[in-house]
Amino acid sequence: MPRAAKTPSLGTDEAIANLRLAVHGKAANFYAMYSSVMGGIVTDPALMVLPLDDHMVHRGHAVFDTAILANGMLYQLDQHLERFLRSAEMAHIPLPFPQEQLRQIILDTAATSGRRDGSVRYWLSAGPGGFGLAPTECIGSSFYVMIFAGLIYPESLYTQGMKVVTSTVPIKAPFFARVKSTNYLPNVMVVLEAKECGADNGIFIDQSGMVGESSNMNVAFVTKDRGLRHPPFDSILSGITVQRILHLARRLVEKGDLKDIVVTDVSVEQGRAAAEMLLIGSSIKVAPVVQWDDQPIGDGRPGPIARKLLDLWHEDVRAASDQLVRVPYGEV
Ligand SMILES: Cc1ncc(COP(=O)(O)O)c(C=O)c1O
Repeated sequence: MPRAAKTPSLGTDEAIANLRLAVHGKAANFYAMYSSVMGGIVTDPALMVLPLDDHMVHRGHAVFDTAILANGMLYQLDQHLERFLRSAEMAHIPLPFPQEQLRQIILDTAATSGRRDGSVRYWLSAGPGGFGLAPTECIGSSFYVMIFAGLIYPESLYTQGMKVVTSTVPIKAPFFARVKSTNYLPNVMVVLEAKECGADNGIFIDQSGMVGESSNMNVAFVTKDRGLRHPPFDSILSGITVQRILHLARRLVEKGDLKDIVVTDVSVEQGRAAAEMLLIGSSIKVAPVVQWDDQPIGDGRPGPIARKLLDLWHEDVRAASDQLVRVPYGEV
């Protein structure tokens, strides 16, 4: 067999030059990154890298969360941070800095990006230290923050509705579903499987045959007699968005648009018989599902409650001062 091209050995300058060359077009969506390993914020995408010996990379021993940046404000940052800290505790990852400092680093990174809209994702890892399994080798937890453009879903998903399929990918065991860890293999596979079937996303069914959640979003239903139903949160991720939506939906009960709101098990059969099915999360907001497997949901068109809840969400992002944290632009 002819010898393949020789693998180059790189000196430091050449390696850094190659890192620059490796920056691809999509990196235009990456605005700023904080790394506790580097000890600060960078805006050059060539430097937005992680050490391979970080346990997040080679063992998945890390947790993360994502909040949205809208109109220069971080929406529900403290609720997302609270879940992040809960995940860290469940994964036994100590904080590298006090909670208030983690929050300030997130705000400073957002401010450095100069962006008024986008996504803010942050990770806490057992940290660098070696390639073993036990985090006892780690020199200390690492913390990373990324400000990026985030996925914008096409308007047609809201006006025409989404198609979902029942996933054959096994749902995570309840403990692992409740920790927002970096182990998202099942979540990636549920989307892949759905796309292969010509659908937009998949639905995880739990160990007892009940509706669980979707890839990175929660699933709710509106019954034919106008009840809002959502599965309990003991074996799925407690979505920050859906918790807020369940709260905002009380206004629709007051107006008589909804009869009631109940968090309860939803069987696949009950779900399929619903008048409306909704996908809810920080990235998708509130989107109507019009087809589940081969069957239409309701009349096969986006329903009124999905639209009203999406409108309430937009209003909340725009004006709910107790849910918004100002980014300190110009102060970093
Ligand atoms: C598995 C899973 N379920 C639900 C959600 C929705 O959560 P949130 O509303 O906080 O985005 C997410 C997203 O974080 C998720 O990854």
